[in-house]
Amino acid sequence: MTTSDEVKKAPAKDPWDLPDVSGLVVGVLGGTGDQGRGLAYRLAKAGQRVIIGSRAAERAHTAAEELGLGVEGADNAECARRSDIVIVAVPWEGHAATLEALREELAGKLVIDCVNPLGFDKQGAYALKPAEGSAAQQAAALLPESRVTAAFHHLSAVLLSDPDVAEIDTDVMVLGDKRADTDLVQALAGRIPGMRGVYAGRLRNAHQVESLVANLISANRRYKAHAGLRVTDV
Ligand SMILES: NC(=O)c1ccc[n+]([C@@H]2O[C@H](COP(=O)([O-])OP(=O)(O)OC[C@H]3O[C@@H](n4cnc5c(N)ncnc54)[C@H](OP(=O)(O)O)[C@@H]3O)[C@@H](O)[C@H]2O)c1
Repeated sequence: MTTSDEVKKAPAKDPWDLPDVSGLVVGVLGGTGDQGRGLAYRLAKAGQRVIIGSRAAERAHTAAEELGLGVEGADNAECARRSDIVIVAVPWEGHAATLEALREELAGKLVIDCVNPLGFDKQGAYALKPAEGSAAQQAAALLPESRVTAAFHHLSAVLLSDPDVAEIDTDVMVLGDKRADTDLVQALAGRIPGMRGVYAGRLRNAHQVESLVANLISANRRYKAHAGLRVTDV
């Protein structure tokens, strides 16, 4: 490359120059569970409008009332329909069926998959190998009209839900195939005090990120901790 080519090139975008997501509605499928409820609590506390989804609207209403902070409850379909960003926080066992049923409601939406396909036996947690490569890739295959990303895999639901924990001391690895979408997810993670969203590659690399949770669970068991992650030097 010549010097004149370099001069013509647009300057690289500052990776920390992220969009304002404060006006976007965030829905959480499976938001009555530990992870979904914890994320809903933190995001609502940060000022985000949040709708908790459930297979049963009544359960979502109850969970939303318990959380307060303006959080609303709805069945998963209504939650998806009314949200701009939809976090998938259902167990791996219900992942495919949940998304397949919501294809229409999720069309055009920014979907954030945080599902970790794990197995457990006497030796502890281990990573499963989804046929599509990862939970996130399964989501992308099932939701061709959605903007699928993956993030929030390494959080501790216990810390998220603990009102005495002021800051969540962890980075969030964000994966996706479109920069505009991963920027939005990074910005959303950054709304939670202590948390930082770091771009970690395209969806084809989601398997390692999902699997790493098995290692964190092992650390948690040995050290009686709620381990998080930091990506250094970025
Ligand atoms: N717990 C964590 O610390 C953590 C951290 C990071 C990522 N994750 C990931 O987040 C997801 C949720 O974890 P969790 O611990 O919150 O799980 P969970 O409490 O077992 O389930 C979450 C919610 O999903 C719904 N659900 C249960 N079985 C379902 C099925 N077969 N189909 C559709 N929906 C179903 C339930 O809500 P309704 O009955 O109200 O529909 C339940 O409250 C998992 O994929 C996990 O890998 C968890």
